[in-house]
Amino acid sequence: MARCFVTRQLPGTALTRLEAAHEVQVWPEHLPPPYDVLVERVRDIEGLLSMLTDRIDAGLIQHAPRLEVISNYAVGFDNVDVRAAATRGIPVGNTPDVLTDATADLAFALLLAIARRLPEEAAAVREGRWLPWQPGENLGADVYGTTLGLIGFGRIGQAVAKRASGFDMNTLHTVSHSDQAALDELFASSDFVSLHAPLTPATRHLIDAGALDKMKPTAFLINTSRGGLVDQRALASALHERSIAGAALDVTDPEPLPRDDPLLQAPNLIVVPHIGSATRRARERMADLAVDNLLAGLDGRPLPHQVPV
Ligand code: DGY
Repeated sequence: MARCFVTRQLPGTALTRLEAAHEVQVWPEHLPPPYDVLVERVRDIEGLLSMLTDRIDAGLIQHAPRLEVISNYAVGFDNVDVRAAATRGIPVGNTPDVLTDATADLAFALLLAIARRLPEEAAAVREGRWLPWQPGENLGADVYGTTLGLIGFGRIGQAVAKRASGFDMNTLHTVSHSDQAALDELFASSDFVSLHAPLTPATRHLIDAGALDKMKPTAFLINTSRGGLVDQRALASALHERSIAGAALDVTDPEPLPRDDPLLQAPNLIVVPHIGSATRRARERMADLAVDNLLAGLDGRPLPHQVPV
């Protein structure tokens, strides 16, 4: 029987399978364990089930001499130093596929919401500013038949493209983030640019002042991947200067975004609190996969979903 630490309560029943086989401690609080507490908690464990909010770096891994497997409850794994884990022979698991549709749905919801100004129009009604119907008021941007540029064309990017085909959108995509010509073409042609790439050193601030400058002044940026892909200062300036029409973000850097962050002063901006995978079904299935990965690692079997080094 191995000792496991799970850094947050999980929805669904997956943890009962883990508890049936191993000794499991679950962090009981609503907020994540602070880094120094996590370092203490990993000292004696064989299995770690972590969240994207936990920094699993080389230092932490060094403090876990018995650790046999890290199972990250997310498809993204930029919070884990996978190389440091690999040098100790520790496999790292993630939870792909099961959140693809939920995340693609949210990307499309954000696209529609920013194009048709849903938050401000709904607020106007609640605040008593609903004026009689006018031909030239409350005008948003068209979605149907426009061009969507997808940066990253993995599972989630492809699922967004599927939704876009129902809106008769012309879809462009890039695969390599170093193909500057393809990126430039996408920025210049797209009415909506939606980000679906992982956060890596190569994609950090992929959307910087230069990229925003290349977008149409009528275009919108959607981000449901990782906040670090966007240079938020540059985005705030682009929104204030109206060099793009708007942005809708599910992810920011940092998270949570402090209430007084200058980005939140920018016009035509929607920010929601990293809810791409936040449906009951997706989160329960993520728990299932995370537990499957942990159980496999503790048994010395290959993880069903092991991230590449
Ligand atoms: C992930 O799994 O990486 C998502 O960001 C969680 O919503």
